[in-house]
Amino acid sequence: MKSSKVGLVLASTAIGLFGLNVLAGADESGKSDAFKPVASLHSLMEAQVDYFKGLGKLINNPDAPKRMKYIHRKAELLAELANVNVHHNKAVDYRAWAASVRDDAMVIAKEAKKARKSGSADEAVFKAKFANIKNTCGACHDVYQ
Ligand code: HEC
Repeated sequence: MKSSKVGLVLASTAIGLFGLNVLAGADESGKSDAFKPVASLHSLMEAQVDYFKGLGKLINNPDAPKRMKYIHRKAELLAELANVNVHHNKAVDYRAWAASVRDDAMVIAKEAKKARKSGSADEAVFKAKFANIKNTCGACHDVYQ
């Protein structure tokens, strides 16, 4: 094998191993999460409140244009922000609240996605999950903000 080719094989093996590490969720010590948020918690919260308010407006306005498309998009992004928030603190209660926002927002997103095909959504699901998210924001803030 030509030396340039050997180099290529070694490099791709190294990338492969690095990729495996990331997938396994381990750093070099194998002890902590591989995923590290790059944005400050402050910026993340500012974005969460934007998405949260935008989602609330859409849920409360049955006449909003392309309503299901935008409910789907906003809820899914709120869920992803909450998913990142899980990694901002190792405390069990903190992570459970962040995960709860994520999971409730995903229920809303899935309901809206389904409604884009079927034409009708279960509005009670939107309302109940949105109210639950609001309570969860508050529950975490009471302890950590
Ligand atoms: C699991 C904990 C947790 C959850 C859930 C949570 N937050 Fe926060 N939030 C915090 C913490 C901690 C701070 C303080 C951050 C700081 O000051 O740097 C904060 C601060 C904020 C702020 C003030 C931003 C600032 O720093 O000025 C807003 C706005 C906010 N959160 C919105 C929300 C909304 C909306 C939700 C729900 C959709 C939510 N948060 C859910 C932990 C949480």
